[in-house]
Amino acid sequence: MVKTVSRSLAACLFCVVWGVHVNASEMVNSEAAEAYLQPQSQWPPKHSDAAEDVAPVPLPVKLDDYLVQLGKVLFHDKGLSGDSSVSCASCHQADIHFADHSKLSPGVQGRLGKRTTPMLRLVGLWEILFWDARIDTLEALIEQPLTDPLEMDNTVEAAVTYITSQAKYVEAFTIAYGDDAITWPRAAQAIAEFMRSIPSPERPFDLFMQAVKMEDFTQAEDVLSKQEREGLHLFRTKAGCVQCHSGALFSDQRLHNTGLTYYGRRFEDLGHFNISGKPEDVGKFRTPSLRYLSERNHFMHNGLFDDLLGIVRMYAHGGSRPKPRGEQVNDPLFPKTTDLLQPFDLSKEEEQALLAFLRTL
Ligand code: HEC
Ligand code: HEC
Repeated sequence: MVKTVSRSLAACLFCVVWGVHVNASEMVNSEAAEAYLQPQSQWPPKHSDAAEDVAPVPLPVKLDDYLVQLGKVLFHDKGLSGDSSVSCASCHQADIHFADHSKLSPGVQGRLGKRTTPMLRLVGLWEILFWDARIDTLEALIEQPLTDPLEMDNTVEAAVTYITSQAKYVEAFTIAYGDDAITWPRAAQAIAEFMRSIPSPERPFDLFMQAVKMEDFTQAEDVLSKQEREGLHLFRTKAGCVQCHSGALFSDQRLHNTGLTYYGRRFEDLGHFNISGKPEDVGKFRTPSLRYLSERNHFMHNGLFDDLLGIVRMYAHGGSRPKPRGEQVNDPLFPKTTDLLQPFDLSKEEEQALLAFLRTL
């Protein structure tokens, strides 16, 4: 931070002395872009409040193929829902990274919930699940969409009865488990194993990280353009994104209030407060992954955002900071936006560089 300031000062002095028009921040950033063509240990230091740095997707873990096959069929089976109209795949669609093309996904009889469907790529890396982190294992989670009246509106018993009635499942359970006992924990385990098997195709950022690790900087320069490397630099430094969006998922797996509670308004969502009941958790949501971001089309827990530039500008203003009005001044539940979000200046070129970097994820 200090270094950037002193460098841009130096650049400005330079343009005053020589009487030429040089965009100081652009100059600083293009130097920075070069600094990423070095081993990661020599990159410019990341934001001082960031615990972790950016990371490539890890190698796939070894899975049980028979369980994956069984789980895949269950995941796509509408027979698991109360009126046989909706499967997991109705909302988690393969062609959009297992998220949904719609902001809100219709469950049985077109019923709509309040939150947008997260993508399922890299889902095995999460230690906390759902937008409000209300559960922490995939196996335990599956019962929730199954029984949610707005999603599949079924019961575990009815789902097991349905599965047992299908000859194809009796055979598949026998192949996967060695006997034909059909139980909910077994079905849930298979569906979880299928979700963990969803591939996470490498993105330009991952190829860049591999090239950096191999110290093949010609290759690194090929896979991430100068503009994209400038964006990486901004992401790790003055824009402060890496404080929360870090690791392979580009999430710190923590909860933050970024000011999108819509407190007292139509789209109000109290986030983790609904689980913990603690006032400090009002409006806290899990940091979402930024992977495959530019190929998804609506963002945030409520899916109300569709413009990445708009999101970047909101962050540059220090995030959304609603002010309490009238009686809200004394309301202990009035949401407080995290202090980790602080305003920063971003030129038009820098905005484009940051967006270009986000598209490599
Ligand atoms: C009607 C649409 C719908 C259906 C059907 C549905 N989901 Fe979801 N899914 C969602 C929504 C919306 C969320 C986010 C809910 C929240 O965070 O409160 C979600 C969240 C999840 C998550 C958490 C992902 C994360 O990043 O934390 C997993 C895993 C998941 N669903 C798996 C499934 C499985 C397995 C099924 C079938 C048994 C299923 N879903 C059926 C809409 C649906
Ligand atoms: C204080 C932690 C924090 C910082 C810093 C931060 N984010 Fe976020 N980000 C979040 C949280 C939490 C959400 C989800 C908020 C919600 O849904 O209400 C989010 C959501 C997003 C989303 C929507 C993703 C999706 O799948 O819906 C994008 C895009 C995003 N952030 C980009 C950025 C960028 C770019 C920066 C840096 C300029 C940044 N974030 C800085 C915590 C942070």
